[in-house]
Amino acid sequence: MDPIATLDRAIAEAPAEIADVSTLEQLEEVEAHLLGKDSPVGTVRRAMGQLADDLKPDVGAKLNEASRRIGDLLSTRRTELEEVEEQRRLRDESIDVTLESVRFPSGTLHLVQQTIDEIVDIFVGLGYQVVGGPEAELAYYNFDALNTPPTHPSRWESDTMYLDWGPPEDELLLRTHTSPVQARWMETHEPPVYVVVPGRCYRKDTIDATHLPVFYQIEGLAVDENIQFSDLKGTLLHFAREFFGPQSEVRLRPHFFPFTEPSAELDVSCFNCDGGEPSCRVCGGAGWLELLGCGMVDPFVLETAGYDPARVSGFAFGLGPERVAMARHGIDSLRHFIENDIRFLRQF
Ligand code: PHE
Repeated sequence: MDPIATLDRAIAEAPAEIADVSTLEQLEEVEAHLLGKDSPVGTVRRAMGQLADDLKPDVGAKLNEASRRIGDLLSTRRTELEEVEEQRRLRDESIDVTLESVRFPSGTLHLVQQTIDEIVDIFVGLGYQVVGGPEAELAYYNFDALNTPPTHPSRWESDTMYLDWGPPEDELLLRTHTSPVQARWMETHEPPVYVVVPGRCYRKDTIDATHLPVFYQIEGLAVDENIQFSDLKGTLLHFAREFFGPQSEVRLRPHFFPFTEPSAELDVSCFNCDGGEPSCRVCGGAGWLELLGCGMVDPFVLETAGYDPARVSGFAFGLGPERVAMARHGIDSLRHFIENDIRFLRQF
C-alpha cells in the first residue's frame, strides 16, 4: 500500500461523498467514514509508527493535508446543512401573526360613572381630595351631627330606609345623602379640609322619571380660615364652566338645609339655548337648570365635629350626577340609567 496514493485518493474522493450528504446525521456517518479510525486516513495514521524513517516526513505532511482538506470540506458542509435545518424549523414552527384573533366585545363605563369621574376630576384639579364613607350609616352622622332634629320629617320611616332601630346613638340606616361624610371627615381631620365624596345614597322613593331609590351624590366640603360665600359661588362657577362650557353663568336661589346657613340652590344657565327659548329640549324655556344644593357650613356642624367656628368657616354642596348627566345629554328619564338597555348605554 502506498500511503501517499491512498491519501491522495481519499482527498480526491471526499468532495463527491460530502456533497452527496443531505442531513446532519448522514454527515456524521460520512465523517467517520472519511476521517475515522478505519478510514484510509485513520489507517495511514495508525501505520505511521511502522514506516521507514525517510518516508515519515512526506507521509506525515500528506496526512496533515488530507485531514485538513477533508476536515474543511466537512465543516463547510455542516454549516450549510445547519442553515438549511434552521430555515426548516423557522418555517415549521412559525405562527401566522396576521391571523385574526378572537375579539371580545368591550363595553364602556356607565354614563353615571363617567359623569362622576369627570366632576370629581374638576375638583381634584382645584386641590380637593377624594374620600368616602359607609353606605350603612349611623343616624347620628346622617342626621344629628348635621343639625337635623329627631322630629325632622326626613327621618321618618316613610323617607329613610332603616337597617336597625334602637336608641338614637346606634340607629343604623342607609344613608340618604353623602353629607354624613362631612361630619365623619371633620371629626378625624384637622382643617384645612378640601374634599369631594362621590357615593351611593338611598331613599324610600318609588321609581319614576325623576326619582330612584338608589342614586348617587357628590358631596363637596371646604373648611379653612376665612372661607366666604363668594368662595362657594366662585368655586361652583368654575365647576359649571368646566363642565357645561365657558359661557355658563350660575345663580343662587335661597333654600333651606339644616346643616348649612345660609343655604341655596344653584342653577346653571342653559348651555343649549341663549335662555328663554320655549322649545329648548334642555331647559324647556326656563333658561336655567337646577344643579345642586349648597351653603355655608352651619356653625353647629363645625362645633359638633370639634372645630372652632370662630376660627374656621366653610362651604358645602351636594349634587346628583344622574341629574347633571340628564341635563347635559337631554335624557328624559332616570329609568334609562337602570334599565341596562344596550341601545341607550352604547351612546355614551
Ligand atoms: N345633602 C343635601 C341633599 O341631599 C345636599 C346638600 C349638600 C346641601 C351639602 C347643602 C350642602 O339634598
